[in-house]
Amino acid sequence: MTEKYLLEVKNLKQYFPVRVGTFKTIPLKAVDDVSFAIKPGETLGLVGESGCGKTTVGRSIMRLYEPTGGQVIFDGEEVNKKSIQKLRQGMQMVFQDPYSSLNPRMTVEDIIGEPLDVHKLYENKAERREKILGLMELVGLNAEHASRYAHEFSGGQRQRIGIARALAVNPKFIVCDEPVSALDVSIQAQVVNMFEDLKDKLGVSYLFIAHDLLVVHHISDRIAVMYLGKIVEIADADDLNNDPQHPYTLSLLSAVPIPDPIKARQKQRIVLEGDVPSPLNMPTGCPFRTRCRYATEQCAAECPQLTDRGNGHFVACWNK
Ligand SMILES: Nc1ncnc2c1ncn2[C@@H]1O[C@H](COP(=O)(O)OP(=O)(O)OP(=O)(O)O)[C@@H](O)[C@H]1O
Ligand SMILES: [Mg+2]
Repeated sequence: MTEKYLLEVKNLKQYFPVRVGTFKTIPLKAVDDVSFAIKPGETLGLVGESGCGKTTVGRSIMRLYEPTGGQVIFDGEEVNKKSIQKLRQGMQMVFQDPYSSLNPRMTVEDIIGEPLDVHKLYENKAERREKILGLMELVGLNAEHASRYAHEFSGGQRQRIGIARALAVNPKFIVCDEPVSALDVSIQAQVVNMFEDLKDKLGVSYLFIAHDLLVVHHISDRIAVMYLGKIVEIADADDLNNDPQHPYTLSLLSAVPIPDPIKARQKQRIVLEGDVPSPLNMPTGCPFRTRCRYATEQCAAECPQLTDRGNGHFVACWNK
């Protein structure tokens, strides 16, 4: 019997038409043939450098973009134009920037209450308010501040407001798009711990997007590594950390600081040469080959597919 997944993403493609010249557009392949699945209660981390397509994956799953191709199945039902309105109650998103994702003209009470209004999840005003205050408490916000506006809060508090809003509809799955990147390091830990507590309390699944591998490793059960619109490696979080296979993952991990000074001195840093190629002008074959020291002719000729190297550790590389 196949395992029951909460979310299945199959061959997802998101191409943006980019204008070159007056009449011509060419496709920018922000996400190109991405597949993965998330089990109920599981957290999948998604890492990769800026511009590799992480946010676009999250937004396409949520149908904030109409995907160019592929399929997203949530809780056994295909996500499409018709079903998304209903499915949104089960899947929510916390956005990358807590400063621009909250309406400055609305009070916190109304920001958190909006999804309750949209999905008509209360009988009367008193119940609505009770739910909102409960959510504020759940994410560690002072309920007395319900009538304040978003700009009166710090970055960490704003992100908590965003999380309370996402939780208002009791979702089973939340896309967290770099929810802590804009925050102070000391606040980052608090917010990450809160995500973990909420997962334990509510049993939600996350797609946790970040570029900080330390944070992602801390919170994720499995991790997927993206490069130029494709997943190049996906594995159990500890497996990926202890036994990285793809040359790109190796270079990402080699850049993670180690707190132990002796070990840190012994560590070899792999510095990638060259720049990330433009997604408008992708290299043939493997997208990473132009910066890979193991690249061969085969890598230029054909793009490697993700293949299982045992224990669900998938790698897309000809040489590893
Ligand atoms: N609406 C859009 N129209 C055209 N191109 C876009 C659009 N959104 C994203 N892109 C392009 O798609 C690629 C992937 O962008 P995306 O925002 O998904 O990257 P990211 O991995 O989330 O980066 P970051 O870590 O900086 O948030 C980039 O090259 C970006 O310029
Ligand atoms: Mg992003």
